[in-house]
Amino acid sequence: MSKTTKKTSGLSQDKNWWRQAAIYQIYPRSFADSNGDGIGDIKGITSRIPYLKSLAIDAVWLSPFYPSALADGGYDVDDYRDVDPKLGTLADFDEMLAGLHKEGIRVFVDIVPNHSSNLHEWFKEALAAKPGSKARERYIFRDGKGANGELPPSDWVSHFAPSSWTHESTFGGKNNQWFLHWFAPEQPDFNWENREVQKDFLKTLKFWSDRGVDGFRIDVAHGLAKDLSEPFRSMPVHEGLEQRGNKGKGIWGDRNEVFAIYKEWRKLFNQYDPPRVAVAEAFVHPERLPLYASTKTLGQCFDFRFIETPFEAHAYKVATKEAIELAQKNKSSCTWTLSNHDQIRHATKMGLNPAVNRRSWMLSNGTSHPLDKESGTANALAASIYILGLPGSTYMYQGEELGLHEVTDIPESEIQDPQYLRNLKVDKGRDGCRVPLPWTASGSSFGFGSGGAHLPQPKWFADYAVEVEEKDESSPLAIYRKALSLRKELQTKEEIKWHKTTDISVLHYSRPNGWNVIINFRAENYQMPKGELLLSTRPVVNGKIPAGTTVWFKKK
Ligand code: NOJ
Repeated sequence: MSKTTKKTSGLSQDKNWWRQAAIYQIYPRSFADSNGDGIGDIKGITSRIPYLKSLAIDAVWLSPFYPSALADGGYDVDDYRDVDPKLGTLADFDEMLAGLHKEGIRVFVDIVPNHSSNLHEWFKEALAAKPGSKARERYIFRDGKGANGELPPSDWVSHFAPSSWTHESTFGGKNNQWFLHWFAPEQPDFNWENREVQKDFLKTLKFWSDRGVDGFRIDVAHGLAKDLSEPFRSMPVHEGLEQRGNKGKGIWGDRNEVFAIYKEWRKLFNQYDPPRVAVAEAFVHPERLPLYASTKTLGQCFDFRFIETPFEAHAYKVATKEAIELAQKNKSSCTWTLSNHDQIRHATKMGLNPAVNRRSWMLSNGTSHPLDKESGTANALAASIYILGLPGSTYMYQGEELGLHEVTDIPESEIQDPQYLRNLKVDKGRDGCRVPLPWTASGSSFGFGSGGAHLPQPKWFADYAVEVEEKDESSPLAIYRKALSLRKELQTKEEIKWHKTTDISVLHYSRPNGWNVIINFRAENYQMPKGELLLSTRPVVNGKIPAGTTVWFKKK
């Protein structure tokens, strides 16, 4: 197959298209259901291309749609080069890709290289094989400690389960060994020192690139290289996903050896025209982000700092400046993010008193403290529009354009997320941001499909339905659409200039060609400087920018 993306009408040939792109994340199982089985699917995405086009985004990123038993929402992959039959076929994928490309929308797929699922052919083969065999070498199997190997090989703690070692007998293995998994036991870690594993991922990247996929989001990009030297180092307390401060020498995260893998991937990406792009999900010390975002490795790396930045002027300014500086270090561009499929929706975070412990609040089904939904949605919109004005790319998450809130009261019996089920139920998990989208105010599953929804949708979803917001010029959807299409016209060089304001709770920056952005964090109005108002997240009356509002305006 040709390594050049077919010249389909809508796609620009700009090699740097990704540097300042607006990328919309789709969680396929919860976006749109075409066949009424309650699960979103590929044809559902295709049917919503007009909606995606109306958002004026540059690309979509699809969370995993591969065959999976859903031990971790699809991040447990049975086969990296296929579509889950519940979501469609490869032909459906090609049709979706062509349809999106035709409208000028590029496509990222999610690559999950740290682990497969326990149902992957290779893992099944490994379980059936003897210790030391070629099949077992693709994963990390070890003998246990104790007189009869009855204890795990080390004290390493997993993200989803108490131990990161599971005895193979759990899945029917008969050789008294243990296998390593950073996440759930159904997500066995690959042995990345194994050449066959390395080659197989190159094959997967080529498979999707040849089909015309434009970019890749790399899951747990910092996890692949591990220190497996024995005796194993100790990790009695979970170090979290964030392998901070290890300076490239941690046990299983952010080790220097990982970059050799990405250098090889980069060579493959660069064989395409335009080169395929990638963005790393790497929870590492900020100093290390540039290593993943280098042009010699993945090219971009998520900088998640805004997910936890308090809605406050000083914090926003510092976060913005630091992120820009870091991105410039390696000639990458910024990756602004406020929400994704792992986070409490930012409208909800911003409607809660910042002093509230969010974990306990979620465990109380959102009842322990009041949520101010209206101001949460309005502040979230102000934050999003602030971010959309910045140089670099923005990664947004499905539903944030509706100002949608987290669903906090999913009954225990319907929770799917291992973060709750496996973590001794001390964390409500991430299902609340993965509830299928409301398209209409009524009807079966609010227009998501004709056969219900795989996670329960609350009644209040009706107020946030696409159909409802489309009729309202001041809705979050209307404002996102306006901002995204204006951004396409206004975006030029990746430059930003800060301007003095008469109040420290107001930030003002400008971009080339007179594009100005002000965000007002005050509890009161702020006088807008002279200029042509382009956009405002709440109405500006007599030149006064209301509290919790972002405006875009043009200055000659
Ligand atoms: C990060 C993904 O975003 C998350 O959803 C998943 O649970 C873990 N990686 C494991 O793959």
